[in-house]
Amino acid sequence: MRLLVTGGAGFIGSNFIRYMLSKYDYQLINLDKLTYAGNLENLDEIKDDPRYTFIHGDIADEKCVQEIFTQDIDVVVNFAAESLVDRSIEDSGVFIRTNVEGTRVLLEAARRYGVERFIQISTDEVYGSLETEGYFTEESPLDPGSPYSASKTAADLLAMAYFKTYNLPVIITRCSNNYGPYQFPEKLIPLMITNAIEDKPLPVYGDGLNVRDWLHVRDHCVALDLVMRQGRPGQVYNIGGNNERKNINIVRRILKELGKPESLITFVKDRPGHDLRYAIDATKLKKELNWLPTYAFEKGLQETVNWYCNNQKWWQKIKSGEYRKYYEQMYAHR
Ligand code: NAD
Ligand code: DAU
Repeated sequence: MRLLVTGGAGFIGSNFIRYMLSKYDYQLINLDKLTYAGNLENLDEIKDDPRYTFIHGDIADEKCVQEIFTQDIDVVVNFAAESLVDRSIEDSGVFIRTNVEGTRVLLEAARRYGVERFIQISTDEVYGSLETEGYFTEESPLDPGSPYSASKTAADLLAMAYFKTYNLPVIITRCSNNYGPYQFPEKLIPLMITNAIEDKPLPVYGDGLNVRDWLHVRDHCVALDLVMRQGRPGQVYNIGGNNERKNINIVRRILKELGKPESLITFVKDRPGHDLRYAIDATKLKKELNWLPTYAFEKGLQETVNWYCNNQKWWQKIKSGEYRKYYEQMYAHR
């Protein structure tokens, strides 16, 4: 089995690569552009594994992608994306290029060369926002609220069109908010942990009452492995852990874990169009593929706090910008 993982130097992709290589004897190619969010240090543990190949490239670069597909790819797992809502509000262009055009380029190559499965990693944000009740099912209407989620929705529609038009065996997964090791410290949980360790202010948007449904990245990887091997082409699978929490409660919990004062919390201007609540109904995945999340949120969060305490060099290099210098030298000739 030869697997093409895109965006494997990011948070979820790197966790997925480590998980798959620990479980199977697959050949795995990681295609990553190494944007600010890509960090090869996330894969230090497996970088010399003979089953693993890294390719520095862009999913929207047709020539690069086609060349990779000449190597008999069996399965594509497309994680590569611009993934932060706030950045999409500042500048949506790169979100359209990577998330929409990049997905199109991959789909087109997969159609031309043929693959057994094309897993499109989407997000619960394509469903928009919920009020205080109800859950997103796979049948919920698509109603994205940010340029990021609109770009992910466009990619989903394109992927499904390739299933309908060309019978490309596409499966879409829509997961809720992930947390765990190697998450870039611009997202809520790692930003709050690392700022708290450094005694810096913790910027909470608006009143802090927005709700997200948290899933440990390892539980996400297990779900993706199942979907990849046993999921039905043309289907969408929601993935979520039924761990709804208000942002402010998560921030307080992190401070408590670290023994830091609540005076570090700073309420700041709200995110424009801030989605109030996400909550996933993952019944389909549980019933069809027998998936069950294993992490209790409080335990997972405690482990994550410990990971950031024990891996300060990793995130300090990111926060200082030092991690980029390595790539700038390495790829200066391109
Ligand atoms: P991330 O930002 O940590 O990583 C993204 C990776 O993609 C980086 O390594 C980056 O270098 C790479 N990349 C970006 N543009 C590229 C391009 N044009 N070509 C090749 N590589 C490129 O993201 P993440 O949090 O790991 O999310 C991965 C996927 O999961 C995304 O598709 C995201 O929409 C989806 N998702 C994320 C979450 C979450 O909570 N983080 C939840 C649900 C779904
Ligand atoms: O739901 C899945 C999505 O989860 C993924 O598709 C996205 O890629 C991922 O980034 C995440 O999106 P969110 O916008 O929910 O995650 P973020 O960590 O940016 O924010 C989580 C919540 O915390 C949200 O309500 C905004 C708030 N927040 C975030 C930051 C960065 C703050 O209050 N302060 C902050 O500094």
